[in-house]
Amino acid sequence: MLDFSGKTVLVTGSTRGIGRAIVEEFAKHGANVIVSGTVKERAEEVAKELAEKYGVKTLGVEMDISNPESVENAFKEINAAFGGVDILVNNAGITRDTLFLRMKPEDWQKVLDVNLTGTFLVTKQVVRHMTKKRWGRIINISSVVGFTGNVGQVNYATTKAGLIGFTKSLAKELAPRNILVNAVAPGFIETDMTETLKDEIKESYKKQIPLGRFGKPKEVARVVLFLASPMADYITGETIHVNGGIY
Ligand SMILES: NC(=O)c1ccc[n+]([C@@H]2O[C@H](COP(=O)([O-])OP(=O)(O)OC[C@H]3O[C@@H](n4cnc5c(N)ncnc54)[C@H](OP(=O)(O)O)[C@@H]3O)[C@@H](O)[C@H]2O)c1
Repeated sequence: MLDFSGKTVLVTGSTRGIGRAIVEEFAKHGANVIVSGTVKERAEEVAKELAEKYGVKTLGVEMDISNPESVENAFKEINAAFGGVDILVNNAGITRDTLFLRMKPEDWQKVLDVNLTGTFLVTKQVVRHMTKKRWGRIINISSVVGFTGNVGQVNYATTKAGLIGFTKSLAKELAPRNILVNAVAPGFIETDMTETLKDEIKESYKKQIPLGRFGKPKEVARVVLFLASPMADYITGETIHVNGGIY
């Protein structure tokens, strides 16, 4: 049985989808959790629900990870409540899908700002505390399309491939401090992000997945918990693919 009691976990973008499932699995296994998203009320609602359900300490914060001021303000609250973050899951991410010929500079920039710069800004905030404690776990949520590429996702796939370089480099820098940095690359998972795809596109993806179905957020969350657990104490700079065999 995994036990994360005494650990403080921050999951970015944990009001919905995969992030919501990750934060719930950690709370279920005894961690104190920080729920975050772009709307404070939504984050507070989830935080309250988890505190009631699992009896752990929770906090809901508004944190637009693409906005440095918003990240700083959120960390004032987080540090006041918990004194720092032991396990960070960089999960928040967005898509602005369109064919490259039609892709506007703002479609490119917005996706980079959230998926890459946001990850950089949030990670900067946790490393000092982890260094002092000589213990930390950072898990970045990439995507299968960062490895395969995908039509209409030049911006998104670039960021998801970028997160792998981020993971590998940071893992090397932080290993001497016992801070492990890994990535999880989900395939197609049932969330709002994939809900917006057209039915015929969903069907064509399903045909390519050896397990014949989309994954569930919980199936990604459990792999994140594994990477944060003592079972993975000798793994760093690695990516685990959770995609039903598509890649
Ligand atoms: N679904 C998939 O098939 C799939 C596959 C591979 C990888 N992924 C990756 O997995 C992660 C989660 O995806 P998902 O499908 O769960 O997405 P989702 O259902 O669209 O949820 C996105 C989450 O990110 C938050 N968010 C959006 N913009 C943000 C910002 N600027 N700052 C902070 N939080 C922000 C949202 O919070 P609010 O609503 O509160 O603003 C929400 O909680 C993403 O990194 C995605 O790229 C997903």
